[in-house]
Amino acid sequence: MSNWKNDNIPWFKTAIFYEISLKAFKDGNNDGIGDFKGLIQKLDYLKELGIDCIWILPFYPSPWRDDGYDVSDFCNIHPTFGTIEDFEELVFECQKRGLKIIGDLVINHTSDQHPWFQNAITAKDSAKRDYYVWSPTNTKYKGVRIIFQDIEESNWSFEPNTQEYYWHRFYSHQPDLNFENLEVQEEMIKVVDFWLDKGLDGFRIDAVPYLFQEEGTSCESLPRTHGFIQRLRKHIDQTYGVNNKIILAEANQMPEETITYFGDGTNEFQMVFHFPLMLRLYLALAKQDASSIKNILKRTKDTPLSCQWCTFLRNHDELTLEMGSDEVREFMWNFYAPELRMRLNLGIRRRLSPLMNNDLRKIKLLNSLLFSLPGSPIIWMGDEIGMGDNIYLNDRDSVRTPMQWSNEKNAGFSNANPDQLYLPVIDDPNYGPQEINVVNQLNDNSSLLNYLKNLIKMRKQYPSLALGQIRFIDTNHKGHFVFVREYLDQQILLVHNLTELSGECRITNHNLDGDLLKQIFPLEKKYSININSEIILKLTPFLKCWYLVK
Ligand code: GLC
Ligand code: CA
Repeated sequence: MSNWKNDNIPWFKTAIFYEISLKAFKDGNNDGIGDFKGLIQKLDYLKELGIDCIWILPFYPSPWRDDGYDVSDFCNIHPTFGTIEDFEELVFECQKRGLKIIGDLVINHTSDQHPWFQNAITAKDSAKRDYYVWSPTNTKYKGVRIIFQDIEESNWSFEPNTQEYYWHRFYSHQPDLNFENLEVQEEMIKVVDFWLDKGLDGFRIDAVPYLFQEEGTSCESLPRTHGFIQRLRKHIDQTYGVNNKIILAEANQMPEETITYFGDGTNEFQMVFHFPLMLRLYLALAKQDASSIKNILKRTKDTPLSCQWCTFLRNHDELTLEMGSDEVREFMWNFYAPELRMRLNLGIRRRLSPLMNNDLRKIKLLNSLLFSLPGSPIIWMGDEIGMGDNIYLNDRDSVRTPMQWSNEKNAGFSNANPDQLYLPVIDDPNYGPQEINVVNQLNDNSSLLNYLKNLIKMRKQYPSLALGQIRFIDTNHKGHFVFVREYLDQQILLVHNLTELSGECRITNHNLDGDLLKQIFPLEKKYSININSEIILKLTPFLKCWYLVK
């Protein structure tokens, strides 16, 4: 094997990420809400699972009308979560275990309770007025899409005291910052320094495309938005060393657009989420046809060398269908969200396991794809044990219920009175803690949790899976998805059956460099297959199988 570890590959290219909502993870002081102390108790669990980097959703002071994405003080901790000392202890405990930790940088807007906005609305000539985007009318930037369509009718809201409208891409209580104002840019750089100095390894940057506005455009991904990102990256590299800290872009766009957020490979984001791939993984499984995955990956250019896509199945938001046509959206809604309460904005507010009707074969299949396709995978907390959702809760709280650690009181999440919890534990015969919890799954070799642990182990053992090129192999069935990942002298053949039928898959023209396919995953059945000019694979329903070419 080549010495890939010495090739100076930045850590995030091979890392496994895990997304955490602090309120939902573990309550350390038993007031019913998760916090830093609780998270610290569970770091060993994450390390054991094979996680390399955790991403924590906003933990800053906030009126909490958008789960902390409405920040009222960027350089502080929401008292519910603990103190700055608790945060520092978390960083220390992460470092001790070799775990990286990134935060969420909500750069595009503030809460309307932020002192800047509070000052801005006192008078038109107030000191912070120009920190926000104002207009005497609500007619500028016509045609710019509204993101939270269920709630908001316009991107402008009227401010009665100063009798002008302010611009907001999300909720009306989240006024957009005015990035034309250099003071705003500098404030944000100060925020970045504050947390990187405290030991964060980087940020997931929220709502990146919307920083600047310009008449006659979609007001997304404008050149000046890239300009600010370049300024920020340069600052971070100069202050903390090249690639020592990372920035990861949330940009819900097609690959032709998101690829631009890598800049020249050294001067913008190191990582960008791949939203369109996420949607197509579900679509392909529903249609039992891999072509949508292949098509989107063909449209996806390789990232520059020191960059990486970040891939995922679910996150803390609704499963967004924005990156699909109207027809795809209708199909996805009908298939995965037959009840209206399951739908939200242009998406679906359900978790992975209920989306798959709790069918472990399908849940494992999607995870097998996530861990073998290009990109660094990120797991939404709770999906590693197949947690359920509660669509009767408000907004996206459906997927943000307390983590189910055990079958004890409050699912082992908290010792508080159950009525005191920030949200009720899932109470459902199939998905409640009596059925689904971490302790049970740790003790069960055939559990989803142990399946994921093994997936992660294998992915780390075979660098092609993180670093290799992808090559699709033709099959005689659109639901039989076969591809190769190759890196240096290593080839891995990945076989997935997206259909519920058994079948035979014959592949020719495979260009495999060896005599034998040695099964490396799943671990339990270690078959080997001879490589001939034609390879015949027997596929069971929803089969996933990884082979090393020997
Ligand atoms: C991002 C977050 C989402 C939040 C929104 C507004 O899309 O993922 O949770 O509501 O930004 O800040
Ligand atoms: Ca607490």
